[in-house]
Amino acid sequence: MGKPIIQIRNLMKSYKLGGETIHALNNVSIEIESGDFLAIIGPSGSGKSTLMNMIGCLDRPQSGTYLLDGKDIGKMNDNQLAVIRNQKIGFIFQNFNLLTKLSALENVELPLLYAGIPTKERRERSIESLDKVGLKERARNLPTQLSGGQQQRVAIARALAGNPSILLADEPTGALDSKTSQEILFLMKELNELGHTIILITHDLMIAKQANRMVSIQDGQLQENGGELFGNFAIY
Ligand SMILES: Nc1ncnc2c1ncn2[C@@H]1O[C@H](COP(=O)(O)OP(=O)(O)OP(=O)(O)O)[C@@H](O)[C@H]1O
Ligand SMILES: [Mg+2]
Repeated sequence: MGKPIIQIRNLMKSYKLGGETIHALNNVSIEIESGDFLAIIGPSGSGKSTLMNMIGCLDRPQSGTYLLDGKDIGKMNDNQLAVIRNQKIGFIFQNFNLLTKLSALENVELPLLYAGIPTKERRERSIESLDKVGLKERARNLPTQLSGGQQQRVAIARALAGNPSILLADEPTGALDSKTSQEILFLMKELNELGHTIILITHDLMIAKQANRMVSIQDGQLQENGGELFGNFAIY
């Protein structure tokens, strides 16, 4: 810990919609250290996914700067961003985003296939990845043959297969019951202890509180520790 892996300064992102401008990210600044486990909490429409897309290099700042491992993301072209995403970032989503016709193993293998990893190594790394999430025995199962929590584990294994330094999770427990959510959170804590930097987006204060650090976002503005905004969280 200690070294900043992410340095974001005065980041702006707005959308123009029918004459109206929505400031989805309004002057956001944050530093995230390598090895950290950060939770970002905020109500619907507050800018969480917009920020995740930015951190995940799916988007570029309109103004402000984003340095990832010291590299200026705002200056990269689409191909360079794709390479960085592939090497450094594993994505985890609320609805797992697994391909239903592929087995658990094939789902995990897919990003490695796109990355041009040869068959044997691809298979080995994917099995290892499924082992890390406790699902090696279910490698041949289709997503429909797995529970929600197991499907999310497969998605986490897929995110891990490329051995990314950063795991970005957008509401990873949003579709799960509270017991299963807690299990997924334990798994993420284990992965954090193995050295992955984790950024977790959630509506759920009970989940967010278990991270090492928590920031809240409202109307595109970030606040350390959730601040006074916690008063509002009872409504969701
Ligand atoms: N492509 C877009 N075009 C126009 N407005 C957008 C677009 N994407 C997001 N927004 C707006 O930006 C704001 C932030 O959206 P964002 O998806 O980041 O919220 P969120 O915090 O992830 O919400 P949720 O908890 O519902 O997922 C919202 O007001 C949203 O309507
Ligand atoms: Mg969202």
